[in-house]
Amino acid sequence: MDKLSEAIKKRVSCRTYSDKPIEENIRRQLEAIVKAAHEGPFGNRPKFKLLSMETVTPAQWKKMGTYGVIKGARIFLAGIIRPGHMAMTDYGYCKEKIILQATLLGLGTCWLGGTFQSDFFAQAAGLQPGALMPTVTPLGYPASQKSLTEKLMRRFAGSDQRKPWKDIFFADDFSRPLPENAAGRYRAALENLRLAPSASNKQPWRVLYNAEKKVFHFFLERSQQYKMMGIAHLQDIDLGIAMSHFEITAREMGLKGSWSIKKDMPQEKMREYMVSWQEAEKN
Ligand SMILES: Cc1cc2nc3c(=O)[nH]c(=O)nc-3n(C[C@H](O)[C@H](O)[C@H](O)COP(=O)(O)O)c2cc1C
Repeated sequence: MDKLSEAIKKRVSCRTYSDKPIEENIRRQLEAIVKAAHEGPFGNRPKFKLLSMETVTPAQWKKMGTYGVIKGARIFLAGIIRPGHMAMTDYGYCKEKIILQATLLGLGTCWLGGTFQSDFFAQAAGLQPGALMPTVTPLGYPASQKSLTEKLMRRFAGSDQRKPWKDIFFADDFSRPLPENAAGRYRAALENLRLAPSASNKQPWRVLYNAEKKVFHFFLERSQQYKMMGIAHLQDIDLGIAMSHFEITAREMGLKGSWSIKKDMPQEKMREYMVSWQEAEKN
């Protein structure tokens, strides 16, 4: 396995880690991936850091809030971004690419973005004023058995399930589902988008395909609950993750295209228009 589109199929959240340390050569490759320059389709440049947990005491570990669900991780990937237009989407797009490369290296990962005590991580990563750390991700070898908390979380979020095509992909308008066999050469790209991880597995992305204009319009069906909780940005991150899955698969299949935000898109009550993938003239 060396293709990112294969990693997309293999990736699954891991919350229980083995105590085996990450092998030296794997760790070096990981560091190179993390340290490289990252830029999303909208020009935002998130930065990433690996944080070692070797010196964290059990008492400190307990204070990490949400991270109580994570057992045994020795390394965390922290992401840093400055606020800006489509910044969270670029952040999700760039970080998922790192996560998929880590998957190719045989490592388990888990996006963590719920409410949490971020002070510890912010301090460890040297977060500058004005910069944000929207998520962190543990990295390591998966343990042979999942903890009970992990099993319950997976069941609660329905993590093994994804919405069927008819609920998320549409042709021309939202009253017409896009059948798999009408997606043409983009069938695999859409299927891999469908496999994307999302906060609480809400899968908020909706895609409208206009075959005549050769364009895929991406929308978000946002959760009101997230808005009320002040964590709406997690779904902008979900969008970036979905875009990365779609683009990675399309490019690996030799399909060319680019992202843009179209003007004059119809305003939908329940679905917010976000971005479009325009196929290149010659594909
Ligand atoms: C932006 C984002 C935030 C997430 N936050 C958390 C979290 O705080 N805690 C957690 O255990 N899982 C979290 N997850 C993991 C999702 O629950 C998981 O991706 C989803 O249930 C699908 O399962 P899978 O990743 O195994 O395919 C998050 C995922 C995303 C994309």
